[in-house]
Amino acid sequence: MNLLSNMRVKLGSLVVTFSKTLDYVDKTLSNHHLRVAVIADDIAQACGLSSKIRKEIFMAAALHDLGVFSLQEKKKIAEYDLINPFVHTEKGYLLIKDFEILRDIAPIVRHHHVRWDDGKGRYSDDDEEIHPGAHIIHIADRIEILLNKTAEVLKQKDPIIKAIRSRSNRLFNPQLVEAFGELSQKECFWFDTSYLELDELLLNRDLLPERELDIEDLEEVARLFSHIIDFRSSFTSVHSAGVSAVASALAKLAGFSTLECRLMAIAGHLHDIGKLAVPVEILQKPSKLDDEQMNIMKSHIYYSYRILDSVKGLETINMWASFHHERMDGNGYPFHLNGSSLPMGSRIMAVADVLTAISEDRPYRKGMDVDTALPLLASLGSKNTLDKEIVKLAAANFNYLNKYRQEVQMRVKEEYDKLKVGDCMALQGA
Ligand SMILES: [Fe+2]
Ligand SMILES: [Fe+2]
Ligand SMILES: [Fe+2]
Repeated sequence: MNLLSNMRVKLGSLVVTFSKTLDYVDKTLSNHHLRVAVIADDIAQACGLSSKIRKEIFMAAALHDLGVFSLQEKKKIAEYDLINPFVHTEKGYLLIKDFEILRDIAPIVRHHHVRWDDGKGRYSDDDEEIHPGAHIIHIADRIEILLNKTAEVLKQKDPIIKAIRSRSNRLFNPQLVEAFGELSQKECFWFDTSYLELDELLLNRDLLPERELDIEDLEEVARLFSHIIDFRSSFTSVHSAGVSAVASALAKLAGFSTLECRLMAIAGHLHDIGKLAVPVEILQKPSKLDDEQMNIMKSHIYYSYRILDSVKGLETINMWASFHHERMDGNGYPFHLNGSSLPMGSRIMAVADVLTAISEDRPYRKGMDVDTALPLLASLGSKNTLDKEIVKLAAANFNYLNKYRQEVQMRVKEEYDKLKVGDCMALQGA
């Protein structure tokens, strides 16, 4: 299998896909990120900024609200006048600041709600200069929030200009308000904001980074996304990290090559990426889900498949990641594949997912110990729900796998706790 030569993943395509994914959770806010990216770039162009800065602004705009975890928070920042926007900006910043690929845009994400305040606006007490991109995303974001996406767009022009002008110099840089005022005279500016194929529009502007990701980059991106997926809910705050660890270790035991094991770890990090389309209120519901909530929960795996499917080069990773609720007897979901069409990587992932889920601690229950977990796993193997051979392999190495899972999850838990510190800091700074 020549895995690497088939995996030519472009950073640009990954960013656009993830950007759309961040808005899946609420259909009324769909495409917020990409629309903000288009508006921000219009303003950046109108201000004559260089192509290098426009590209940075695009990347930051495409991901700017990545620190928003719940539907409630999402609804709150959809109000024009915000009470405390600095929790999500701080979380977003903390999430990406240590990742080489996104490090440069981290301060822009952090500062995208800083007020202009006559040019003196700063983020809390530090005197750090605010990147011009942050002010551009700020105004673009507020224009986007004011747009009613279901109403005719041109008739919204005057009230939106009025609302933006009324905050000039306090919230927004007056130069940017002027640039917007001029742009707003062109109908195409408004039609662009209601155009459905925003990714195509951005593609033609030559803003997407051309960088091709190597395996280390992919590992880094996958780890970051597993944080975004898991940190939304304290119930499963380290789940993907656990699945990733168990899946790669199990793959090694099953004879996978080193490269395949690394891909397995990446697939494990991304296996529940579709959970970004599930409101956190459902992910965190302490009582039993009703039928409708259950259906929404079930859709996560469909979204995992669709999200990963839209990134060229991730085909193998998608197959291993997104079939983890399929079952050997064909009774899984959503594709109802069975043993004859489930690749070994997918079978390993299914076992890793179950093993991790039953043995990890959740805030509302302790994980199963070996004496309870093993018979349960064995019965799933003998009923032909999970792959019998992989179950045997997992059972024979249970203690090793469990210990490795715990170590990895403990490390990630520390990172999760640091984000909570972010909450306090941001609240104080507001
Ligand atoms: Fe925001
Ligand atoms: Fe936003
Ligand atoms: Fe899942």
